Amino acid sequence: MKKIAILTSGGDAPGMNACIRAIVLTAARFDIEVIGYAHGYNGLLNQEYASLRPRDVHNIIQRGGTILRSARCDAFKSENAAQLAAQHLNTLGIEALLVIGGDGSFRGALHLSQFWQGQVIGIPGTIDNDIVGSDATIGYYTAIETALESIDKVRDTADAHERVFVVEVMGRHAGFIGLHAAVASSADYVVVPELIKDTKTELNAILSQLDEIKRRRGHCSYVIVISENLWAGGATELATILHKETQLECRPVILGHVQRGGSPVSQDRLLATKLGAYAVEEAIAGKNRIMVGEINQQPVSNELASAWTNTKSLDGYLVKVQTDFFNLSKQP
Ligand code: F6P
Repeated sequence: MKKIAILTSGGDAPGMNACIRAIVLTAARFDIEVIGYAHGYNGLLNQEYASLRPRDVHNIIQRGGTILRSARCDAFKSENAAQLAAQHLNTLGIEALLVIGGDGSFRGALHLSQFWQGQVIGIPGTIDNDIVGSDATIGYYTAIETALESIDKVRDTADAHERVFVVEVMGRHAGFIGLHAAVASSADYVVVPELIKDTKTELNAILSQLDEIKRRRGHCSYVIVISENLWAGGATELATILHKETQLECRPVILGHVQRGGSPVSQDRLLATKLGAYAVEEAIAGKNRIMVGEINQQPVSNELASAWTNTKSLDGYLVKVQTDFFNLSKQP
């Protein structure tokens, strides 16, 4: 193998740079040239690329974002786009394309492989952690830390003013960030897609817990963590409803893209380093249409499509503990 290419696509995630570095350094060991496409699949279509040498990835492991830039690329869904990309890859003599991103980016890679003979390999990079085939995705650990740090701060002001706060976290349609940040911050209530019954039931549960806490403590500082895309009107609407129902002071906090930024924590740097190195080794071994991941600390590879044909479950024991604590807090 002489030449491979990489791109970062979809929502950026802390640790993508660490992964790029690992790919470039591992490829250098085997004398393989690495081409980096800028702006995700857009760069592949518009021929925005540069050769990446070991010196280009010096001192980037600690940086958030991605030196290659990222983007979502709807245009890539068409046959014409994939054919054009295949043509560009062939002209440059690229033998394998490594895509760091989420399931949408993996779908793009599989689509490309219908029109291109080279190998495609996905590396899971998304804060959402919603990809089966890897215990964690690159960026997820940092996003939890960022959310946690923010919720701890919200808790301080909630206590000081005896207020209710509804904190909305990212995750697209998955509750990994929500559940983990909520448990680690001892939030009073958590609403995530995998566990939500219906909004009315959740609202009643919150109201009865609020009542009990107020009765017991004589005041009420209360923090709810809620996943995005779950409640019509999100945290803002829920805070308004809670104020109307309880007359307590309620405030929404939407953490938003803050969760995507920042220097990656050590777990993300290590995961990204392992997956980047492993992806190159799998490319050299001739693997195609796979995604790499880590399960129980072992690098593994699976069919690319398995990333979205299966659904990843929340940590069942953590859910049980959170539920047990919630039930305890309702007891008089
Ligand atoms: O997939 C990562 C993610 O940050 C999701 O958590 C979120 O729903 C989405 O991307 C936001 O996308 P955008 O940056 O395009 O608004």
